[in-house]
Amino acid sequence: MITYKNKTSKIKRIKAREILDSRGNPTIEVELETDFGIFRGSVPSGASKGKYEARELRDGGKRYNGMGVLKAVKNVNEIIGPKLIGKDSTNQKEIDEILINLDGTEDKSKLGANAICGVSMSVCQAGASSQNLPLYKYIARIYSGQTPVKNTIPRACFNIINGGAHAGNDLDFQEFMIVPHTRPQGGYSSFSDNLRVASEIYHQLKEILEKKFGQLAANLGDEGGFAPPIRFPQEAIELILEAAKKLDYEIKIILDVAASQFFKNGKYRMKIGVFSREGLLNYYSDLIQKYPIMGLEDPFSEDDWPAWQKLTSNFEDRASIHGSESKNIRSSLPFAATRVGEEEDEVLFDFQTSNLLIIGDDLTVTNPRRIKMAKEKEDCNAMILKINQIGTITEALEAAKLAKSFGWKIIVSHRSGETNDDFISDLAVGIGADFIKAGAPARGERVAKYNRLLKIEEELRWAS
Ligand code: PGA
Ligand code: ZN
Repeated sequence: MITYKNKTSKIKRIKAREILDSRGNPTIEVELETDFGIFRGSVPSGASKGKYEARELRDGGKRYNGMGVLKAVKNVNEIIGPKLIGKDSTNQKEIDEILINLDGTEDKSKLGANAICGVSMSVCQAGASSQNLPLYKYIARIYSGQTPVKNTIPRACFNIINGGAHAGNDLDFQEFMIVPHTRPQGGYSSFSDNLRVASEIYHQLKEILEKKFGQLAANLGDEGGFAPPIRFPQEAIELILEAAKKLDYEIKIILDVAASQFFKNGKYRMKIGVFSREGLLNYYSDLIQKYPIMGLEDPFSEDDWPAWQKLTSNFEDRASIHGSESKNIRSSLPFAATRVGEEEDEVLFDFQTSNLLIIGDDLTVTNPRRIKMAKEKEDCNAMILKINQIGTITEALEAAKLAKSFGWKIIVSHRSGETNDDFISDLAVGIGADFIKAGAPARGERVAKYNRLLKIEEELRWAS
């Protein structure tokens, strides 16, 4: 227990409330009080959720089209709260264990992963404040005993064209993300440059879309990227490359296919056609040959293990497409984060020699059990980390540790339904993640995360 000038880190009060997320659907915000102040955690929500994620509790019925979270709120106020009053907020692990045991189900469906996640996040904020640490340093401490793990800011992947479940257009693939590379005079070493270039490309893309398809093409999807009236992934990629080229920027592209969304009866049923596993694999191979694609997220369904294996083994033989001498995709993977307080033009991410990132999201769902399965089957070499996929901070940190022990790259991620909570920015820095994805460099709930990273970068620079 932390005691400072008669203040203690004991939890005095916990209260949850129903608020709205960025899609206008209800979500839960938890407020927790200690002598050090009042701390909040608000929980995001996915539209293309993985089948194996922890379960959000929704009320059903007519209210908010069944999306209300009053049951989850009640669970926090009446079941979880009373058990945590008087506990030490700096003991994240013990509190998360209480939450897991109180729920007692595999998927946290009894009390609701949303209820549990909000509590776990607010406890973490309270713990940081009691120790007088910024959240990222506190997370680094509970993650590895050091503050911070690495003096780096993760490199951001900006989702600038939206499709799939996040947009009302005909694109089957859900996210077209850019990772800015070099500027004419050299490389980037700062997150602020990373963000600026992404923003410039975003606005350039808007201009191109409006010229080609009219103003409606600049309408936005759920994550703030444009949702133009196009159908083929190649068209989206070409438009993005055109925007980057116009500004003389080099970029890499990560595609979140979110393939579980259109996998039915053993086939990938897209608007551009029905693909077998092999057909889709060939399609990816063509895209990768032709375009500067750095990563594929959920290229196959969460249950189609053999397809993932095929992709992985195919690219073991073909790693040279990115200029690498290596024949093994698990070797010489990119070092992604940007170091703070070093030479301006230092680039830690090796864009030219990096191999393809094969990224599990619905496949791995931030769940150590699924992550181990994916490792055994050699299905991926990178992983999305989303706290609410598993429900507690402690379990999310365990998942990150496990993935790191396999040499995987970690991408900390928002959800398509977000709030202005910027917890994930501190999480990404605290665990030394390689990447963060928080949508487009636009819309309040997305830029909340990027703006928080700007502040952390400033702080780290002052300290170095
Ligand atoms: P979701 O999508 O938040 O709608 O699940 C994000 C993702 O698939 O990465
Ligand atoms: Zn995804």
